[in-house]
Amino acid sequence: MEQEFVEDIRELLASDAVQRLKNYPHHKRVTRFEHSLYVAYRSYRLAKWLGWDSAAAARGGMLHDLFFYDWRVKVPGRGWHVTAHPRQALREAQSRFPLSAVERDIIVTHMWPLAPARPHYRESYAVMLMDKYCAVMECLSLSKKKLRRLGLAKLAI
Ligand SMILES: [Fe+2]
Ligand SMILES: [Fe+2]
Repeated sequence: MEQEFVEDIRELLASDAVQRLKNYPHHKRVTRFEHSLYVAYRSYRLAKWLGWDSAAAARGGMLHDLFFYDWRVKVPGRGWHVTAHPRQALREAQSRFPLSAVERDIIVTHMWPLAPARPHYRESYAVMLMDKYCAVMECLSLSKKKLRRLGLAKLAI
């Protein structure tokens, strides 16, 4: 586990809101917390490798799915999940944490191109891509092993 990554998201990990994500299933047997942590780490690594703002990628990745309902249960009035939840996550994140313009953009555009809001920053593209990569790994039941190997699984307990 990279200490710098953990430092970048320490404030978020210490919050009740982010810890609450452990209560929500996201993909198969993966919780929303595990998904967010995996996306945050992969985005951090990609941004670091490219010389981009890796802290913003880590923080935006950790907050990109900060919403508190089971998206698989349809509720009238909630809107289409694909387009609605990035804005919901931004509202939840903004009300709790000071966010940079890059971090706000990461959250609200992470569903592009399935949702119309297009990324404005290169770090937003990193998280948008890693979100999809991680979702595939989770649907193939490969992500938990990866989190253990990366030394990140203990944060998700
Ligand atoms: Fe999402
Ligand atoms: Fe996601």
